[in-house]
Amino acid sequence: MDIDIRSLKSPEVSRLQYLPFSRKETQRRRFMLQESGRLIFFVAWRGNWPVAQVLLNWEGGDASGVPPQVRPWPEASSLFVHPDYRRMGIASRLLDVCERITFQRGYENIGLCVYVKNQPALNLYAHRGYKDAGWEPYLARGVYTDANGGQSNWRETRVYLLKSLREKNESRSFCSV
Ligand SMILES: CC(C)(COP(=O)(O)OP(=O)(O)OC[C@H]1O[C@@H](n2cnc3c(N)ncnc32)[C@H](O)[C@@H]1OP(=O)(O)O)[C@@H](O)C(=O)NCCC(=O)NCCS
Repeated sequence: MDIDIRSLKSPEVSRLQYLPFSRKETQRRRFMLQESGRLIFFVAWRGNWPVAQVLLNWEGGDASGVPPQVRPWPEASSLFVHPDYRRMGIASRLLDVCERITFQRGYENIGLCVYVKNQPALNLYAHRGYKDAGWEPYLARGVYTDANGGQSNWRETRVYLLKSLREKNESRSFCSV
């Protein structure tokens, strides 16, 4: 399948509404964070249709409740693949891009956090060599705004995973975008 992965451009922000993960305000705020250099907002496109996304955060990702450990490495967050496009390797390709750019910028590790019961994501990360950082699982919480503007609280126990990019680079080269 022909999928193009690239960082989000200003005229594309409004098209993210077709990805069922999106709130307009959140996507605008994230785009502005990209503009200020704090993250790269990668989107996978099939033609004009966004089918997946991930954020590569230079200063730590979704910080809700992450333990106060020193985390001097970039973090991937908000990985989401449209349900119609799952199990086609798209998340793997997005993570390939994040890992390659992280390594090219001189970092030897990349981190992320995941809900302890999100088995598909846990499988994906284990498959790619992410390992438990050894910190206590922690409770993340926040407020979720649904499509109708209603708000509800969410909370979930997460674990922090870390991947050494040095090992990967010693054994093989990265995939290209
Ligand atoms: C988790 C998620 C990102 C995976 O995306 P994807 O594009 O389907 O993943 P890939 O096709 O690259 O999968 C690579 C490997 O991960 C594992 N994996 C992915 N989805 C899986 C599933 N539903 N069940 C079991 N293993 C799974 C498999 O090992 C898979 O390799 P295989 O297909 O050769 O068996 C996607 O299901 C998703 O968007 N889920 C909702 C949002 C989410 O949970 N994001 C992660 C937040 S931390």
